[in-house]
Amino acid sequence: MKSTLTVHDLKFELYLTEPEIHNRVRELGEVIKEQYLGRNPLILPVLNGAFTFAADLLREINDIQCDVSFIKLASYRGTQSTGEVATLIGLDRSIKGKDIIILEDIVDSGKTISQLIQDLQQLEPASIKLATLLLKPAALAYKDFNLDYVGFEIPNSFVIGYGMDYDGFGRNLRGIYRLVEVG
Ligand code: IMP
Ligand code: MG
Repeated sequence: MKSTLTVHDLKFELYLTEPEIHNRVRELGEVIKEQYLGRNPLILPVLNGAFTFAADLLREINDIQCDVSFIKLASYRGTQSTGEVATLIGLDRSIKGKDIIILEDIVDSGKTISQLIQDLQQLEPASIKLATLLLKPAALAYKDFNLDYVGFEIPNSFVIGYGMDYDGFGRNLRGIYRLVEVG
């Protein structure tokens, strides 16, 4: 695994290795399995960023009979959150009375997830929980939701890899890389 790389104009350094990520995803899976055994949750991975996390976590909870529906709600451009949140798309079934688990790659300001949870609550699910691989506690500005399952708390710097991109690139990296600030 490369320890540094350049994407477009920016330099990134390895921050979380593939085994570190997988160990943590396995731990999250154990906790979720315990809490949802005998239930049939509907898992909602948020595209695009959560696709890798979802693929790994879903296989860690293979004892649970769950339904999966990929949704999309993008608000991110470049390395700064735009502050605008797009509408929810891709939800292809009723969530009324269902136990929902949202899968996110990263919670930054929290705006995206706050908005998403509000939108989903209108549809009357039985419960909503959130699993996010990464959390940037220093950036968190919206706090009207619970952070039920968090993989790693990370510093407030931009990261790519394991599903996350910088301007389209980096999603297929096995590790998670953080931006090297210059100057
Ligand atoms: P928030 O609404 O500010 O919490 O931003 C959340 C969304 O922005 C996440 O779902 C990511 O898709 C994206 N995002 C936030 N921080 C990063 C980052 O460091 N790298 C890549 N994408 C990020
Ligand atoms: Mg995302």
